[in-house]
Amino acid sequence: MEERMVSGDVQSDDESIEYSLRPQTLAQYIGQSKTKENLSIFIEAAKMRNEPLDHVLLYGPPGLGKTTLASIISNEMGGQFRSTSGPAIERAGDLAAILSSLEAGDVLFIDEIHRLPRAVEEVLYPAMEDFFLDIVIGSGSEARSIRLDLPPFTLVGATTRAGLLSAPLRDRFGVLSRLDYYTTEDLCAIVERTSEIFDVDISKEAAIEVARRSRGTPRISNRLLKRVRDIAQVKGEETVSKGTTQQALSMLQVDEEGLDHVDHKLLLGIMDHFQGGPVGLDTIAATIGEESQTIEDVYEPFLLQIGFIQRTPRGRLVTTKAYAHFNREVPGS
Ligand SMILES: Nc1ncnc2c1ncn2[C@@H]1O[C@H](COP(=O)(O)OP(=O)(O)OP(=O)(O)O)[C@@H](O)[C@H]1O
Ligand SMILES: [Mg+2]
Repeated sequence: MEERMVSGDVQSDDESIEYSLRPQTLAQYIGQSKTKENLSIFIEAAKMRNEPLDHVLLYGPPGLGKTTLASIISNEMGGQFRSTSGPAIERAGDLAAILSSLEAGDVLFIDEIHRLPRAVEEVLYPAMEDFFLDIVIGSGSEARSIRLDLPPFTLVGATTRAGLLSAPLRDRFGVLSRLDYYTTEDLCAIVERTSEIFDVDISKEAAIEVARRSRGTPRISNRLLKRVRDIAQVKGEETVSKGTTQQALSMLQVDEEGLDHVDHKLLLGIMDHFQGGPVGLDTIAATIGEESQTIEDVYEPFLLQIGFIQRTPRGRLVTTKAYAHFNREVPGS
C-alpha cells in the first residue's frame, strides 16, 4: 500500500523528527486532559507511598501519543524506560530475560501488546500481579520450576486494538486510558509547539489551517507542518502565512477536512455509482478496486468518525454532510 500524507501510522519520514518532538513531561503533553489528570494523581500518590505506579494500558488510534505518554510516565516516576513490542517477543524465555533485567521503579513499555503470543502472556501474569517469574528448567520428568523474584516495576502497554486483548491480561492493568482524537484547538497548540522546535515563525491562522486538516492526530499535524515549512522556505516567506499553508496542503492533496484522494475515491465512488448508497462493502470494493478489508480497517474509520459515511444493515451510506463537502445535491432531494 502507498504511504498516505494523512495516515496516522508512523512512516519512514516521521522517524527523523519524532524523537525531538516528543514532550518529556506531563505538563508539556498537550490535550487528553482526562488521561493527564488521572495519571498525574496516580503518579503523585505512588511517589508518596514510595511504590511503583500501577500497570497502565493506553489504547487508541495510531499517532495520538501512546508511546510519548509511556516515556513521560517513566520520566515522571524517575525510573529507566525499557521499550519492546508484542511481536518482538516470540518466546516466554525472551520475556523472562527482559523482566529479570529490570530494576526497581523501571517502566517496561510493551507496544502492540495485543500481539503478544499467548504462551508469553502467561509469563506476564504473575510478574504483573506479584512480581515473580516461574521458570521451568529441564524437560519431561526432569522438569522443575523455580521461582524468581522481580523488582517492583510498572508495565505500560499500548494498543490500537484494545478489543483484541485477552480478558485476563486486560484485568491485570490498574489504569486503563483511552486516548481520543484531538480537538483543532489542541492540535493548533501542538503545531505551535512544533514550530518553535523547528525554529519557524507561523501565523495563528496558518497553524489553525494545519490543525484542521490533521484528522485529530498529532503525528499528522507534525508531518503536514514539516512539508508546509519546506514550501514556505522555498518561497522565502519569513512567517508562514495561511495562504501558503492552503496552497501547500492542496498541492499535497489534503483538503479542508483532511481528506485525500483515497477518501475522495471512496466517497465519490459511492455517490457516482450507487446514488450515495446504501451499498454493500464488497460491491464498493469491487467498484473502486480495493480490498474490502483495507476499506474497513484503513479508509473507513475516519470517514465514520467525522460522519461522512454511515454503516447501515443494508450497507454503507454517504451522508448529507459529505454531499455538502463536495458541494453536491443529495440525489432525490
Ligand atoms: N499530546 C501531545 N502533545 C504534543 N505532541 C504530541 C502529543 N501526542 C503526540 N505527539 C506527537 O505525535 C507524535 C506521535 O506520537 P506517538 O508516537 O506517541 O503516537 P502513538 O500513539 O504511540 O502511535 P502508534 O500507535 O503508531 O504507536 C510524537 O512524535 C509526538 O511528537
Ligand atoms: Mg507508538
